[in-house]
Amino acid sequence: MAYFYPVIKKETIDRINDTARIDEVVGDFVRLKKRGVNLIGLCPFHNEKTPSFNVSVPRGIYKCFGCGKGGNAVSFVMEHEKFTYREALLYLANKYNIEVEETERTNEEILEDNRRESLYIINAFAQNYFSEQLLNSEEGNNIGLSYFEERGLRRETIETFKLGYCPSDGDSFTQSAHQAGYQNELLQHLGLTTAYGKDFFRGRVMFTIQSVSGKILGFGGRTLSADKKQPKYINSPETDIYFKSKIVYGIYQARKAIAQHDVCFLVEGYMDVISLHQGGIENVVASSGTALTQDQVRLIKRYTQNLIILYDGDAAGVKAALRGLDIALEEGMNVKVVLLPAEDDPDTLVQKLGGDGFNKYVEAQKKDLIHLKTDLFLEEAKGDPVKVAGIIKDIVASIAKIPDAITRSLYVKQTAKMLEVEEQILITETNKLLRKEATKKVTPEDKATVEALDYTPPAKEQPLFTFHLDTPQERDIVRLLLENSNYEIEGENAIARILRNLSDVEIDHPEYNMIIEEYRNAFAQNEFLTQAHFFNHPDEAIRNLTIDLLQSPYELSDNWTKMHDVPITDKQFLVRKDIVKSISLLKLKKIIRMKQDVDNRIKELQHDTSENGIQETMLCQKESIQLQQFIRKLSTDTGTVVLPGIL
Ligand code: UTP
Ligand code: MN
Repeated sequence: MAYFYPVIKKETIDRINDTARIDEVVGDFVRLKKRGVNLIGLCPFHNEKTPSFNVSVPRGIYKCFGCGKGGNAVSFVMEHEKFTYREALLYLANKYNIEVEETERTNEEILEDNRRESLYIINAFAQNYFSEQLLNSEEGNNIGLSYFEERGLRRETIETFKLGYCPSDGDSFTQSAHQAGYQNELLQHLGLTTAYGKDFFRGRVMFTIQSVSGKILGFGGRTLSADKKQPKYINSPETDIYFKSKIVYGIYQARKAIAQHDVCFLVEGYMDVISLHQGGIENVVASSGTALTQDQVRLIKRYTQNLIILYDGDAAGVKAALRGLDIALEEGMNVKVVLLPAEDDPDTLVQKLGGDGFNKYVEAQKKDLIHLKTDLFLEEAKGDPVKVAGIIKDIVASIAKIPDAITRSLYVKQTAKMLEVEEQILITETNKLLRKEATKKVTPEDKATVEALDYTPPAKEQPLFTFHLDTPQERDIVRLLLENSNYEIEGENAIARILRNLSDVEIDHPEYNMIIEEYRNAFAQNEFLTQAHFFNHPDEAIRNLTIDLLQSPYELSDNWTKMHDVPITDKQFLVRKDIVKSISLLKLKKIIRMKQDVDNRIKELQHDTSENGIQETMLCQKESIQLQQFIRKLSTDTGTVVLPGIL
């Protein structure tokens, strides 16, 4: 059964949006002063001394002219409290005493939902039980609490991280859970009780694994015995509520500090997170013994673009750090690595150096990918050109994973300098890898689509023809949609007309595309969307975009005038006179861009005599001819003269 998420009814969402007052919601967190019709305060999302954070009560929105963040009441609590959309709605519903209704669900869905809810409840019960045992039982005090105290943890820290103790007698937790009425099947599913009815974690100190919003997902239990045959830690299994690859330990306690400092430390162990937090370094999470995953990086990326990996300097640690580095680079993060000396881990280091000392140490030791790899490998490769070449290849492979071209080129420059190789060689090598990746992604179906090409541009992932439309042009179309819900052209609703004409145009830009898609879906169900729908949109990017779009004055992109033989002076022209034409022009422009790209590619491939290269060239040539035919046809249809400078 698929992972189920209850959906709050639209009527409830509307009521929340209608009731929540932006000044009251923001006012709980920011001191606002009246300035003209607006309110103004210090922006909570970036550091500033003079207020540039504006709140407009009549419009129900806020906007910071310093950092650009903007939105409505819901987005404010999402951003400020790091809530999900649902959490933000529930928060506001609670603040304004609004009863929350959720959509009707099938019996199966309700059962599934209840089961998940039960699992959370049992985990919360278990957490509470383990804490009680640690703090208030004799065994917990003597064994568990004294252990944590020996390791330097303060009471407050023990509470913040919900540390606990599971008694050693065998099944007292399971007994209590049964008495409290919890089903054995669920206790076993959560891994709290073994198949033999014993406590899985018996005799261990307990670490609680929490979700971003603080829910209890699972546990780790550390043995206190010196017996080498016992695993040091045992952990909850994956369950219907715990997906190990999607969570990092400590995120609940760290999320605000990560956003505030705009950097996240990644360490290996539970104890490292807790010790650093206690030492004043709260922006820290752990991958908890498993290799860092893409989902984990994305979770961290919700709060910052900057990651510092602090791993052990031993062979296993280096390997894990290098892997983590590549994964974070691939996600477009700025990532640095600190390898710690064998005798230390972050826990012992912060206890030795203190918070400030630790920060200084990291500042001095952190290395980017190039410095890290040269430092790690160059020494042993000295004087061996084959080995040096191997290192260069390795570095290039990492650079090729970086999605941003500018960052890539900066790394290339730096590598060239450090390893004394010609930059051009590195560029060629990087491009080779990029191209290899790109050709891997072309499937036979893609090729078939290319051959049967009509107006629809090729799929996004297809590398041969990726091109980007000028944003302003898409902006114009989306603005036409947003501003013309009540407008009629020759008896046809303007939105209907725009959508009809857009039906075979694909928009690359994800947010604009999403807005158009929503108009399409609504239209298919005979509903018309208002501007408010987009102001209150669950997707932050959409909300911001709509707000920006409707707050900034209308301006037509230069290209419109260039593309058009008549100068366009105002939007009325577009709306009244020729929506059809404006969209045909959009298509025309897209096709021109496609042809430019294809032609550029042909040029690039000129000297490539490999089989792949020749095959690709042939495909491109065929494509270019077809596109030329479409351009001719479309320019005739729209009566447009395509200027030689454009093609
Ligand atoms: P460490 O051995 O570095 O643990 O393993 P630690 O947190 O520093 O614990 P102390 O300081 O020895 O008490 C790093 C992480 O790997 C996972 C745990 O998440 C641990 O925090 N691990 C380690 C396991 O899951 N099982 C193990 O047997 C060992
Ligand atoms: Mn440790």
